[in-house]
Amino acid sequence: MEPTKYLLDEKEMPREWYNLAADLPKAPLPPLGPDGNPISPDMLAPVFPMNIIEQEVSAERWIKIPEEVLEILSIWRPAPLYRARRLEKMLGTPARIYFKNEGVSPPGSHKPNTAVAQAYYNKEFGIKRITTETGAGQWGSALSFACSLFGLECKVYMVRISFEQKPFRRLMMETWGGKCIPSPSEETETGRKILAQDPDTPGSLGIAISEAVEDAVTDTSGKTRYSLGSVLNHVLLHQTIIGLETKKQLKLAGEKKADVIIGCTGGGSNFAGLAFPFLADKIAGQEMDVIPVEPTSCPTMTRAPFSYDHGDTAEMTPLLAMHSLGHSFVPPPIHAGGLRYHGVAPLISHAIETGLITPRAIDQLECYQAAVDFARTEGFISAPETSHAIAATIQEAKKAKEEGKEKVIVFNWSGHGLMDLKGYHAFFAGHLDNYPLPEDVLQKSVASLKKYPKAQL
Ligand SMILES: Cc1ncc(COP(=O)(O)O)c(C=O)c1O
Repeated sequence: MEPTKYLLDEKEMPREWYNLAADLPKAPLPPLGPDGNPISPDMLAPVFPMNIIEQEVSAERWIKIPEEVLEILSIWRPAPLYRARRLEKMLGTPARIYFKNEGVSPPGSHKPNTAVAQAYYNKEFGIKRITTETGAGQWGSALSFACSLFGLECKVYMVRISFEQKPFRRLMMETWGGKCIPSPSEETETGRKILAQDPDTPGSLGIAISEAVEDAVTDTSGKTRYSLGSVLNHVLLHQTIIGLETKKQLKLAGEKKADVIIGCTGGGSNFAGLAFPFLADKIAGQEMDVIPVEPTSCPTMTRAPFSYDHGDTAEMTPLLAMHSLGHSFVPPPIHAGGLRYHGVAPLISHAIETGLITPRAIDQLECYQAAVDFARTEGFISAPETSHAIAATIQEAKKAKEEGKEKVIVFNWSGHGLMDLKGYHAFFAGHLDNYPLPEDVLQKSVASLKKYPKAQL
């Protein structure tokens, strides 16, 4: 029997995270404050604990993973790498397809890789309560899980459309002791203002981030901080354990190199987690196609300008250099809630601008069909976000067939979709549409960026 899974022993778990910032050919652009000048680390202190801020600005190539974090990660890590032999057979492709199964964590996605680290650093710093936002509910459940293991309180602002579509995610958060409310809410000034203007808004990640940041910085006890599940450098750093494990596992599988690396991309953390350790090889001269995948309804990387913009709707975060659809953009209510973000990680934007990675946008229906094909060959039911990575993998496997090339394709299976079956139901019933973003809507939204400094590498 030919192997299906490539497994590492717990002892082989990476002991350090990889920081791409150390190897980029050009220095990343700094976040800017309201006056247009680079912010200093202490300006972030009301929002994040200082030990996390130090990681955010670090230029060290390798950063040690604390033993307490490794102990908790060992509940599900090292995560298995699978060879998708049945999918390959269905496609008749000469490509060898591998996927890293991040759905084996207790909350069911890659998100706890950073949630555990962030809860640990907050606890170390004396913080008692953490606030956050969540799109699909994966991040909120991951942080609730991590906070429960470290004895911290957790408050989650969940984008309203997902709160309504995914009631079981809220119950998961509550099971781990988190408190989850729909955003926009009546609990913050930002939420009240938005509800007054648009009582039926589906909400957005940008709005939920504003509410969670406001909640943290207005706690006068100083014991609350905010935590972000994607976008920022330290979050991407914590996810690199995915790619570092994958490299070891590809060796076990007898592969000398990967030709194509794929991940779905909302804020960018699971894609970066898999891809950044491989980008180190690409920077050193190895040929490789590295593809972050987004929905056509929220085409941040493929159609939005590279600009400075806020990470949230209420303009509470510093200005970040990233591809952005404009911070007041409210994306169409597609089922991949975690991919409905107006911006993307600055490190990913940097990699796009320097030609290291090539983004791609795919329609919702093609993604659902890919997820169904995957379920009917490989068995696993994917999160709607993850389906974007599968759709791109199938496109690449078909291309390899046309070219007659034996490529090695690796994608990140970022999470299971067992809490997302409503979307599958809508797909089977023919109720889902593609929502490619109309050009006039995009232009109107990005017009708001004109007042911010240009991002130029
Ligand atoms: C399963 C899954 N994959 C991907 C994402 C997208 O986030 P990121 O781009 O930070 O990996 C999410 C976000 O909620 C998710 O839940």
